[in-house]
Amino acid sequence: MGKWNALYLEKLKSAEEIVAQIGPHSICASTCALGEPVGLSQALAERAEAENLHGISHHLLLVLKELKYLQPEMTDKMKHVAWFTSGPARKAVQNGSADFMPCFYKDAPMLWQEFVEPDVFYATVSPMDKHGWCSFGVSASVARAAMSRAKKVFLEVNKFMPRTHGTGVVHISEVNAVFENHVPLVELGDIPITKKDEHIGNLIAERIPDGATIQFGIGSIPNAVGQALRGKKGLGIHSEMFTEGMVDLIECGAVTNTSKNIDANKSIVCFAIGSRRMYDFIDDNPGIEFRSIDYVNDPNVIGKHDNFISINATIEVDLIGQACSESIGTQQFSGTGGQVDFIRGAGMSKGGKSFLAIHSTAKNDTISKIKPVLTEGAHVSCSKNEIDYVATEYGVTRLKGKTASQRAKALIGIAHPKFRDALTDAARKMRLVA
Ligand code: COA
Repeated sequence: MGKWNALYLEKLKSAEEIVAQIGPHSICASTCALGEPVGLSQALAERAEAENLHGISHHLLLVLKELKYLQPEMTDKMKHVAWFTSGPARKAVQNGSADFMPCFYKDAPMLWQEFVEPDVFYATVSPMDKHGWCSFGVSASVARAAMSRAKKVFLEVNKFMPRTHGTGVVHISEVNAVFENHVPLVELGDIPITKKDEHIGNLIAERIPDGATIQFGIGSIPNAVGQALRGKKGLGIHSEMFTEGMVDLIECGAVTNTSKNIDANKSIVCFAIGSRRMYDFIDDNPGIEFRSIDYVNDPNVIGKHDNFISINATIEVDLIGQACSESIGTQQFSGTGGQVDFIRGAGMSKGGKSFLAIHSTAKNDTISKIKPVLTEGAHVSCSKNEIDYVATEYGVTRLKGKTASQRAKALIGIAHPKFRDALTDAARKMRLVA
């Protein structure tokens, strides 16, 4: 038996043995999404309940599984802190039984290194290789930074986690204990692409040149843009999130990564959530590098690419060009994520463009997503000074270089026709238009 195997076996423990080492009031840090050590976080919640432990916090970016710690009665014992409020965690954040951490995603490593000191770092990893290394797989993002100051490090080894290339690796000598839990990864079903999405996707794709480097955000519109890019040539990928549509673009030959000024020949990403087909595509694929978020989302790095194109969705935009992408009024819905990082980066790129793409309305055409002012309490994600293109099914407008009055007119021009008169009246009252 090799040295690293012997060390691995020495550190191999049950979930109960590991969580017995986590005391009340511990700050527990994990990575993001599929990096959550679901066996350990569940065991910790069960211990907190059984032994009436209080004040444990569980930090994670993007929860995918409905686990015990999200139940309202667990709040005082083990509270979730969402760094991005996703599906199962949304209800808990909205009803106050979970908390959330406002941040630009690029800053998450810095927050772990300078502001929040974790007692524990735990994460799911792929099985150890012969050199003693495990991979953080599809969740490199903040892993190394969150681990760097943790007093204890625990790994949950899962053979279903792809082994990825890049900087998201951890050596067995760096950890206190490992636990094996081989459970299939959560898979995201296909987000249906509607005719409206397709139309907006085509409007944006027309404005993307061959050879561009792209980032896609969350939602059906960014996915529709991906679909519309299949006829392009020489595209590159530099994106926080790796998406199912990106697998298609690589497979059909539209993405080659050959035109990138830096990191050529590779897709550079931080995390991925998709189908098993995607996880198999990523596994041991040297063409995809999973890197830390403070590299991938650094606007200076993004800006080094010529023709960088960022495509993200938003919840509402006001007539001066501020966007709220993360709350519905005061109710936290998601998070800033990397949206602003990429808008800034694309703004620094030669030939770069960033698109905020929205349906003109929500809730069966009863609400205009272009508003005179943001809804009271809405969290401003993008400043009016940074926003670039806004796209709806009624067209695309560029706000950069437009005055307040020109912006209001341009945004009203791409709003749903049934809201245009009311928006114009409001713009007049605000003295934005005559
Ligand atoms: N007013 C009221 N409700 C609204 C609304 C508005 N202006 N805009 C959207 N909604 C509702 C929708 O009706 C929908 O409700 P439902 O689930 O009951 O149908 C819900 O909010 C979600 O809207 P939808 O447009 O389907 O969201 P999406 O899945 O396309 O995601 C964002 C859009 C903006 C929430 C998502 O992209 C996000 O979180 N962005 C911020 C982070 C980010 O961009 N990161 C990028 C790097 S990964």
